[in-house]
Amino acid sequence: MYTWEELNTFVNSCSRCGLSRSRICPVMGRGNLQSDLMFIAEAPGAEEDKAGIPFIGPAGQLFDQLLGDCGISREEIYITNILKCHPPRNRDPQDSEKESCIPYLKYEILLVRPKIIVCLGRVAAQRILSSDYRITRQHGQWIQRKNYDLTAVYHPSAILRDPGKREETRQDFLSIADKLRACRHQ
Ligand code: URA
Repeated sequence: MYTWEELNTFVNSCSRCGLSRSRICPVMGRGNLQSDLMFIAEAPGAEEDKAGIPFIGPAGQLFDQLLGDCGISREEIYITNILKCHPPRNRDPQDSEKESCIPYLKYEILLVRPKIIVCLGRVAAQRILSSDYRITRQHGQWIQRKNYDLTAVYHPSAILRDPGKREETRQDFLSIADKLRACRHQ
């Protein structure tokens, strides 16, 4: 098993796919390594690519508000992406890029050992939950797999494009906060 620092070193020198040639900074997941709650999003955006830190751009700021609205702080959670490098012009990740990067995510899950995993958006939900996952129909539904409780919610970028999705997402985050409270009392 690797430490987070070792994984970070691997990610920072990764050249497993072509994104290593266009990225500025690889973006390793961040947060509380003892957290019961892990969020998995798609890929770093332009701001994250410049800073090497996940979820600091506009989507990250909205994410912090959604968390805050249900009483969870960023310090309590771990957040990461399927891809650790920014795809040019935010295009969808290619299958080969996802497969090259997924071992890093598997190690992050082994390291943090969350009880709850929340996919942010379609790309993460289709890679983690099921390839035919329909985020518009299935967001907020819980499934259990191995020892994990899993769900998916709209990606904050989708809410920035369509603010009408915010209220449904607020409800989904309340359900995540309930799940977190329940698993802390187990
Ligand atoms: N969008 C993502 O999916 N991940 C980030 O880190 C930032 C924006």
